[in-house]
Amino acid sequence: MKTLFDLREKQDSEMIEAIQSLYEKPLKVVGLGEQSINACIGCWSCWLKTPGRCVMKDAMAESYSDYVNSDTVILLMDTVQGFISHQAKAFLDRTIPHYHPYIEMVDGECHHVARYECYPDMVFYYDTEGLTNQEEQVIEDYLYRTAYHFKSKAYRIVKDGSPQLYQLEPRKAKRQSVTFESVEPMEKLVIYNGSPRRRGSNSELILKKAVEALDNRVEIRDLKEEDQWDEWAEAFKIEKHVMFFMSLYVHAMPSHVMAFIEKLQASKGSISFFVQSGFPESSQSYYLEAYFEQLAPRLGRTYMGTVIKGGVEGLQMRPGEAQDKMMEPMARAIVNLVCEGSFNPIDVHQLAKPIRFGIGMQIGFKLLGKRLTNSLFWDLHLKKNNAYEKRFDRPYLSLTKERTTV
Ligand SMILES: Cc1cc2nc3c(=O)[nH]c(=O)nc-3n(C[C@H](O)[C@H](O)[C@H](O)COP(=O)(O)O)c2cc1C
Repeated sequence: MKTLFDLREKQDSEMIEAIQSLYEKPLKVVGLGEQSINACIGCWSCWLKTPGRCVMKDAMAESYSDYVNSDTVILLMDTVQGFISHQAKAFLDRTIPHYHPYIEMVDGECHHVARYECYPDMVFYYDTEGLTNQEEQVIEDYLYRTAYHFKSKAYRIVKDGSPQLYQLEPRKAKRQSVTFESVEPMEKLVIYNGSPRRRGSNSELILKKAVEALDNRVEIRDLKEEDQWDEWAEAFKIEKHVMFFMSLYVHAMPSHVMAFIEKLQASKGSISFFVQSGFPESSQSYYLEAYFEQLAPRLGRTYMGTVIKGGVEGLQMRPGEAQDKMMEPMARAIVNLVCEGSFNPIDVHQLAKPIRFGIGMQIGFKLLGKRLTNSLFWDLHLKKNNAYEKRFDRPYLSLTKERTTV
């Protein structure tokens, strides 16, 4: 089975018919337009309470079996503000239940272990109108990376007259292609907290530390307060210094952060970004950094840089002193930005370590692998939730899964 997920706001049939012409058998078309996909809230129920199953009850959840039982999924996406739309991003974030929380190491980077035996090839089509060449490349790199992480082969359809399908070649994103700027010390910095978590958010803890140090020189706004978005987007036009602080979701921003970014108009001032993630290596966040480097000029703003910090999951479980020790350099990076008007490059460099794991760590991980990945932290939680016996469930798999190739 091949399923086409139409994630576009305006779901015209012309593009679908054009794509259908690339395949012999009829495609199953699933329309997931506006309102059909709730944003992932990082509750981890799909890992720790109902293994493999998302708690959300929406059209996206209803389409999970179409996803896992297809040999090919074709995603039709809008692009907004130089990236895939929040709707498309929500789709990718909500694909997490199809993987285990357990971790394996691939080429010096952490990956989630497969829950299903195989995954569909991922075919991407996105509208390139209004994109610069660099933005188009950033999106392609990002989608390639996502498919790679999802253990799928990646393809792209481009429409130059008739549609053409080609496989995406492996590539790696580069760090810091754009220089970090500096400005005068800031009287005030507005920080948008982009964590989707309702409680137990790491971002909230870290930002509290920044407020303790900077008092009223920072104002934190939680992007979960959607009813404030219009007012904040209006304020963005005149606010001098703005930072987006977020957790990494599938190598990019959580979808509600993208939904807010979509509302912003170009305006004068500075913009900075802070990305903290679960896996230790900062290479996870390079694809998002590459987008932010493009977003700053798109919004007409001075790019102050993107700070990346990995290994933050579990912050709340650390004892007080260890927690403070971990948060201190992150808060300091924000203090520096406000008080000096720039990030301290040495601090930024230190925070980003490790970029990837070296060969020694890779061997160590292989030796310890089974014990590390299949027990300890995750199993403890699974047992606490009476879900341990179900940890290898494949809830959306149909017994008659039909496999064909592209
Ligand atoms: C849907 C989802 C996707 C995630 N994707 C990544 C990822 O690609 N790489 C990574 O290192 N961490 C990833 N994480 C982990 C979060 O970035 C990490 O847990 C973060 O510290 C959460 O911060 P918060 O509590 O402030 O939201 C993901 C978490 C969720 C729920």
